[in-house]
Amino acid sequence: MRYQIVTFGCQMNVHESEKIAFILEGKGFLPTENREEADIIVFNTCAIREGAEDRALGNVGALKRLKKLKPHLIIAVCGCATQKESTAIYIKKTFPFVDIVIGTFNLHELGSYIDRAREKRVLELWQEGEIDEEKSYLRSSGENAWVNIMYGCNNFCTYCIVPYVRGREKSRKPKNILEEVRKIVAEGKYKKITLLGQNVNSYGKDLEEKLTFAQLLHKISEIPGDFKIGFMTSHPKDITDELIHEIATNDKVLKELHLPAQSGNDRILKIMNRRYTREKYLEIIEKCKKEVPNISLTSDFIVGFPTETEEEFNDTLSLVKEVGFSGIFAFMYSPREGTVAASMEGQVPEKVKHERVNKLLALQKQIQKEAKK
Ligand code: 5AD
Ligand code: SF4
Repeated sequence: MRYQIVTFGCQMNVHESEKIAFILEGKGFLPTENREEADIIVFNTCAIREGAEDRALGNVGALKRLKKLKPHLIIAVCGCATQKESTAIYIKKTFPFVDIVIGTFNLHELGSYIDRAREKRVLELWQEGEIDEEKSYLRSSGENAWVNIMYGCNNFCTYCIVPYVRGREKSRKPKNILEEVRKIVAEGKYKKITLLGQNVNSYGKDLEEKLTFAQLLHKISEIPGDFKIGFMTSHPKDITDELIHEIATNDKVLKELHLPAQSGNDRILKIMNRRYTREKYLEIIEKCKKEVPNISLTSDFIVGFPTETEEEFNDTLSLVKEVGFSGIFAFMYSPREGTVAASMEGQVPEKVKHERVNKLLALQKQIQKEAKK
């Protein structure tokens, strides 16, 4: 009995696939690289942009032939795309050979759904979930171990689907996080711990026992052992002096900060509901550079947000020039059903988005080339 997991999207999904692997191995499946050989295939999907979602669905569609050859094959689809009811129902209707459709909140139940699916197709979405502290993973990211510190997001940036498919912010208890890190370190094979959350800087705000993200970092670093700590993703509005200081002074914390700016223009930032200005963003960057020499700064940008003009896009270019990031991700705005921006007037033509994304990437390439000289 063999399994294959196909993962789309971010590190959160990569990590959750490690949990899926643990569940499947617990049910007696062994991994295979060869899809034809699999007895169960799980697609862990992403919904962040239309392209990511379409790629996942295209992959699922292509399995019709395999299922015909191999009727006992179980096909399961989970993750952010299927957490949206419309997509879950679409999959159920369009792909009758898919056995299990679940979302993000009931992933830990996958084992029981597999048993049920042998009798009847399963479509089950939960609207919310408690944090599953049965933290068991089959870690497969080499020397790096992912550790989830919080789930969900409360920010509602107007372009973003995440709050809808991952729910509200929930922080794990420090005790549970520390215990997990201790265990990882004791295994001796991990050199890096990467803390994960959609917005790690608001860690702890929902806890009874108040603890800031910087304090959590500090506590983790006190665990004896030879390891470094990284984290993602940060929201500029929640970066504190305390955090910058912790990065600067704690030897175990990597001198890296991924700080998505999204745009360099104040009007666009405002209608994205980012709650910071260009000036504020640059102020944070200046502080980081001053306090943490050699810090590696990276960022995400969205081009072609509804109503974005050429001049406003130029502000993004100038911000990228001004900061000199070590690396950036640039995305063409992709309307996500149900978000505020998807129904804004003034959607930007695809052609213009393409031009802008190419321009931005070319600029960054040139900056990186010059930095190497
Ligand atoms: N369209 C394009 N890019 C998006 N991102 C999030 N939502 C969208 C969207 N609707 C980008 C942001 C975020 C990164 C993970 O994905 O830049 O930081
Ligand atoms: Fe990750 Fe967001 Fe994609 Fe979900 S929608 S997989 S949280 S990037």
